[in-house]
Amino acid sequence: MPLSRVPDPADAPPLRWGVLGPGTIARAFAGALLTHSHQQIVAVGSRTVQRARGFAAEFGITHVHGGYEALVSNPDVEVVYVATPHSHHREHALLAIAAGKHVLVEKAFTRNAAEAREVAEAARAAGVVVLEAMWSRFLPTADVLRQLLADGALGAVRTVEADHGQLIGAQDADRLHNPALAGGALLDLGIYPVSFASLVLGPPDEVTATGTLTSSGVDEQVRAVLHAGGAEAVLTTTLAERTHTRAAVVGELARVDLPGDFYLPVPLTLTSADGRTRLTADPGPIRGHEGLVYQAAHLAQLVADGTTESPLLPPDETIGILTTTDEIRRQVGVVYPGEVA
Ligand SMILES: NC(=O)c1ccc[n+]([C@@H]2O[C@H](COP(=O)([O-])OP(=O)(O)OC[C@H]3O[C@@H](n4cnc5c(N)ncnc54)[C@H](OP(=O)(O)O)[C@@H]3O)[C@@H](O)[C@H]2O)c1
Repeated sequence: MPLSRVPDPADAPPLRWGVLGPGTIARAFAGALLTHSHQQIVAVGSRTVQRARGFAAEFGITHVHGGYEALVSNPDVEVVYVATPHSHHREHALLAIAAGKHVLVEKAFTRNAAEAREVAEAARAAGVVVLEAMWSRFLPTADVLRQLLADGALGAVRTVEADHGQLIGAQDADRLHNPALAGGALLDLGIYPVSFASLVLGPPDEVTATGTLTSSGVDEQVRAVLHAGGAEAVLTTTLAERTHTRAAVVGELARVDLPGDFYLPVPLTLTSADGRTRLTADPGPIRGHEGLVYQAAHLAQLVADGTTESPLLPPDETIGILTTTDEIRRQVGVVYPGEVA
């Protein structure tokens, strides 16, 4: 089993971060950075100054802004973490880029591929880093999987399976049921299986999807089958059930299994096709959502190296992932108000 080559996040050169949209995931992100890295969170911007003050007090942040424009204009901020709903990622990423800041944009990067292309082009023109916060991509076991695929340890891959289902009602999270906030299972949870298939197989040649909608008109449950070369990926996502949330890659020589919750730091198991050999890669010492720190450390290293596009998740792949979700949404019948086509 190859060893992970992912550096300790504590070794990444520090950057000065500004948090845009201090909600649930921003809180987990800030905690992970402060616990496991030397990244500095110097500013927070909220639509409501009281919320920014509360967040700043919790994490010892110096600059408090009652608006996002003020946050991105703060000269002390080098990189902006966009943690608003997907509906607003395009607008907020463009705001940060226009202010000359690097930007880490929560998943789903934008509502669709056209919006993602616009953000990627703006970042290229400004010479800043833009990275989709698909944090599973930067975990130690993702690096082990990449090495197994590159070394041909699995042989020709024929099948990928990935699932992400959570029981989340409208009373639990309006964001996920609200079309105006680009709700639905696919862009919030299903984006992990789609990204996993992209990592293993690259862009699909063919997409076939079925699904059901909530009464509010977003996708509640989706099943998508992607074909890429000679391989097939079967991807499932739902807001209606807490499912097994596992992933697997099956090749002619061996199989890789990631147990539930596959998108977190979890052990990776390699099993030979004859079942005789079984090896496990440890996910490393950082567990649960504290693994959010790896993506921040990766971005900080890109900036220090003067590289604007991540080799692990370049903007063109993010655009490709959203091209797949666009096609799935077209087949399932989900349209968001105000989305830029
Ligand atoms: N990586 C992960 O594991 C993970 C987990 C959960 C969520 N996420 C992603 O993170 C993003 C935010 O999700 P969340 O669960 O943190 O959401 P949340 O708790 O609702 O927080 C979102 C924040 O965005 C700001 N905001 C700006 N415009 C808004 C609007 N029109 N409606 C609601 N909020 C608005 C709000 O902050 P202010 O009003 O204070 O500015 C709010 O606190 C989503 O894209 C989601 O997919 C990632």
